[in-house]
Amino acid sequence: MGEVLEYEARGDKKEPTTSKEADIWEILNYRKAMRVATDMLTDLPLCQRIVLECHRILLNSVRGHGKSPGQYRKIPNWIGPKGCPIEEAKFVPIAADKLPEAMSRWERYIHEDAPDRLIQLALLHAEFEALHPFLDGNGRLGRMLIPLFLYQAKIIRQPMFYISAYLESHRDEYYERLLAVSRDNDWSGWCAFFLNVVKVQAEENLAKAEAILDLYDRMKTRFAELTHSQYAIHALDWVFERPIFKSSDFVRGANIPKPTAFKIMGILKENKILKALREGSGRRPAVLAYPELLNIAEGYDAF
Ligand SMILES: Nc1ncnc2c1ncn2[C@@H]1O[C@H](COP(=O)(O)OP(=O)(O)OP(=O)(O)O)[C@@H](O)[C@H]1O
Ligand SMILES: [Mg+2]
Repeated sequence: MGEVLEYEARGDKKEPTTSKEADIWEILNYRKAMRVATDMLTDLPLCQRIVLECHRILLNSVRGHGKSPGQYRKIPNWIGPKGCPIEEAKFVPIAADKLPEAMSRWERYIHEDAPDRLIQLALLHAEFEALHPFLDGNGRLGRMLIPLFLYQAKIIRQPMFYISAYLESHRDEYYERLLAVSRDNDWSGWCAFFLNVVKVQAEENLAKAEAILDLYDRMKTRFAELTHSQYAIHALDWVFERPIFKSSDFVRGANIPKPTAFKIMGILKENKILKALREGSGRRPAVLAYPELLNIAEGYDAF
């Protein structure tokens, strides 16, 4: 995450060329798709139009960009070891000609009044992956649908429930649980796994949110004491919104008179609250980071 913020703060967003940049783009695409989906949800229910639009954005310039972004597949695909022929597949999803009807049924199920929303979501996710409606990007889209579903069902107030971290670190078990559904009809095993993923991730997110709120409270006093400025709170809010930023953006955007903005940055650096990721030189502005906040978000001492 820090790398994404740093990439954005530096502000040179050309097409990705290295694999690290491609990873960053995947996250930026996720954020953009989420923003677009949230906007669309103000006028539409969670539906196939949103799914297709998100898919188009998620695959922009990254893995699978040549594989019909924004369109359901028109040919078969299969799941198995990378590059394996269909005969060696572990699972072959529905035929392409049956996909439109199956996706309509899947869409209808989103809006059914199920007795338990989280179980409904577990089923929706597994069904989506089993249908594998796209040539690529089914995992990315399926993971994004989790917060979107919770948001449209009003279980969370913002579509911010990033579940990927846990699923990626438990990838083998995740795949095995999905496979057990089609192979052994083991829906209970899948649901138990999924509910646990949601629980663990929710607890982790909650702990981070609390630590961030606590930090904000402590820093309110500290920023005021250090800077003796009426603008201390502006600076605090700025670094909490953009924990990696260009010094020139701070001077322009933080609503603080220019000389005061420079002074505040200097004090915060001196006191090691801010750290320069790149020193300024000549006309090139410094890139500054707020490590304490970033490390809470990352979950370890990344800065
Ligand atoms: N046995 C299985 N049955 C159904 N779905 C599966 C199975 N094994 C894996 N999957 C799903 O397929 C996804 C991979 O599909 P695809 O390559 O189309 O998406 P992706 O976005 O490129 O994937 P990812 O980002 O997860 O690598 C996995 O993330 C998982 O959700
Ligand atoms: Mg893929």
